[in-house]
Amino acid sequence: MKPKVLVTRQLLPEVHVFLDRFLEVETGVTGRDLPHAELLQKVKEKAGLLSLLVDDVDQEVMEAAPGLKIVANCAVGYNNIDITYARRKGILVTNTPGVLTETTADLTWALILAVARRIPEAERFTREGKFSGWELDLMLGQEITEKCLGIIGMGRIGKAVALRAQAFRMNTLYFDHHRLSPEEEKHYAAAYAPFLQILSQADILTLHTTLTEETQRLIGRKELEAMKTSAVLVNVSRGPVVDENALAEALEKGIIWGAGLDVYEREPAIESRLLDLGNVVLLPHIGSASYDTRLKMAMTAAHNLVAGLTGKTPPNLV
Ligand code: GLV
Repeated sequence: MKPKVLVTRQLLPEVHVFLDRFLEVETGVTGRDLPHAELLQKVKEKAGLLSLLVDDVDQEVMEAAPGLKIVANCAVGYNNIDITYARRKGILVTNTPGVLTETTADLTWALILAVARRIPEAERFTREGKFSGWELDLMLGQEITEKCLGIIGMGRIGKAVALRAQAFRMNTLYFDHHRLSPEEEKHYAAAYAPFLQILSQADILTLHTTLTEETQRLIGRKELEAMKTSAVLVNVSRGPVVDENALAEALEKGIIWGAGLDVYEREPAIESRLLDLGNVVLLPHIGSASYDTRLKMAMTAAHNLVAGLTGKTPPNLV
């Protein structure tokens, strides 16, 4: 008998073909959110769960499935899973590191350039028929080349962002609890600096931390006030790393120049004041959203799930 698993949402067809070979799969829902109560109901008899980052895999979910052996998250982040409880119960938890690094770094740069050069605003302006000819001071943005890039969180994605910054000959500073070796610092052309120094020096500040108690609201009113008034803040990590209310205020008052967000504090809800501002670019959590990468993520999660239920060690245990 194949082990029973719940895949919370319909994935790409290739992934289901693979899963069906080894497991008895129930697919939670297609094209809509799976409410927590429904998740509790559906997970009951299952030995495995393939979750997305929007699924709250808390203690209650794991208690609802006494036979649960593995939660395979289809994301590199796993702040949606109660890891402490899973560990206590011996439930394996896996993620999908590596496969989305380059795609997310690309999106980070798309967002940096979009904010600094006011691309969405300029595009709206053009479409609305407002372009009446070249003007010296039309849609002036911020320069990127040879400016200071601050990276908070120098993991895989932070490093990939630093590599791309070399094309812009930027002065890259990074902060992370783990300091890189001198060879790595040279390779990434990035210098270690204290957090507060980076806040005050960065022209572009980009966040690549995991979400932990320590990084919750890492960027709040005080930190925004420490930044340059010409600075751009970009967040493609997790929404709660930034105090969204304080950010809206900073953008309204010109405390910083602009921001680009791919993630939100109470996702998918967005602080309504941000929606009215022209100096913020808002994306719907698409950091890793290329067809190739999303397929690799789902396949990685599927391989982890199958390994965990067929007596093998899943490759991406967290
Ligand atoms: C995306 O946000 C991920 O964690 O994979």
